[in-house]
Amino acid sequence: MDKLVIEGGTPLRGEVRISGAKNAALPILFASLLHAGPNKIANLPKLVDIRTTFALLIELGVGIRKDAEGASIVDGSTLLSDTAPYDLVRKMRASTLCLGPILGRTGHARVSLPGGCAIGSRPIDQHLQGFEQLGAKIELTGGYIEATAPGGRLKGGRVIFDLVTVGGTENLLMAATLAEGKTILENCAREPEIIDLADALRSMGAHIRGDGTSVIEIEGVDALGAMDHTVMPDRIEAGTYMAAAALTHGDVLLQGARLRDLDAVMSKMAMAGVEVRREGSGLRVRHHGELHAVDVDTSPHPGFPTDLQAQFMALMARSSGSCTITENVFENRFMHVPELTRMGADIKTRGNTAFVRGVDELTGATVMATDLRASATLVIAGLAAKGTTEVLRIYHLDRGYETIEEKLAALGGKVERQSQ
Ligand code: EPZ
Repeated sequence: MDKLVIEGGTPLRGEVRISGAKNAALPILFASLLHAGPNKIANLPKLVDIRTTFALLIELGVGIRKDAEGASIVDGSTLLSDTAPYDLVRKMRASTLCLGPILGRTGHARVSLPGGCAIGSRPIDQHLQGFEQLGAKIELTGGYIEATAPGGRLKGGRVIFDLVTVGGTENLLMAATLAEGKTILENCAREPEIIDLADALRSMGAHIRGDGTSVIEIEGVDALGAMDHTVMPDRIEAGTYMAAAALTHGDVLLQGARLRDLDAVMSKMAMAGVEVRREGSGLRVRHHGELHAVDVDTSPHPGFPTDLQAQFMALMARSSGSCTITENVFENRFMHVPELTRMGADIKTRGNTAFVRGVDELTGATVMATDLRASATLVIAGLAAKGTTEVLRIYHLDRGYETIEEKLAALGGKVERQSQ
């Protein structure tokens, strides 16, 4: 297994290109199943999760190649299977996003239940209830979900989610594009990635209104045409580098980052004393002097994103005061806390709230990555710590951050990947 060896203390300076958004690219890749022909998708990030998605699509019979400009051509002309097998779904729970497109296109889908993951049980009951409200019959046998639309086609209907779910909104949105009649989804997630998915579906001829609000209306069509879409920039990657620049007292241009995707984060960064402003087609982040302590509560968009909770906590660990960070989306997303504590942070957790007391210095240590965003947080802390930090099990990182050590090294960060 690889590890990252980090020498702390160097301010990050320069510019970094923000890659395509993982959490937009995954549903968009699955949405390509809705068209029986080639689809063009540009700006896909080079990530393990994208490769896992390619493997699942190929398992289903999809052909994938690159065109002359480097965009991916994903061709689902002939589906050989409607089953997403356990060995692929357990690697990446987002594989359950193939349910909606396969069910919408063929009227039958068989997908392994994903099982939990490090940050929580993460059930998909809302997805399944939604499909039932569109007429599907759902059976659970042998760890697999069997979804069948009577007569081979879903019927438009009204779905009210019990809670805000990004994946649930995306799965139902994709399925409804080929249902018979109109579908109204209520209590939807409003994340920018949902708007990007809707844009990709509209490029195929889908009729969608209201994406980005809590009510989305879809007029089902008989068939969808070829997708032609460029994936939005990754706001979570951008927020991660923003925290790294601030924590190391750096000055970094986040090339391609979109200000409108990060309103809640920008507001908290400004309160902490970090200067972030638009520059050209990106965001300039610079910080020197002290960091003010700022309370954070994570919540669905447009609230503070749970995917940046850990990174912001690393920032607050070096603040000049005390604050609370409350995780309201997932039930177990503080696994970075014991590792930050080993680096000298003063953080106590009680339930879903972390009490952070800023310290003058973090010190390098050997720490363990546990999940994607927690591992990025340990890298950020290592960049600011005194001495050497070794982050183990960085396969978690490779799932969601494209060539992170190269990007950080180009900013002056002393980061080296070593095989253990
Ligand atoms: C998406 O996960 C993202 N993943 C997550 O990013 C992100 O943290 C999350 O949305 C919240 O923003 C992708 O887009 C691939 P949810 P998702 O359904 O769709 C509960 C990362 O680091 N819930 O919005 O799985 C669930 O347990 C990843 O990039 C149900 O109870 O998140 C959770 O507590 C981590 N029943 C909450 O809702 C359901 O049917 C939010 O989950 C569905 C969800």
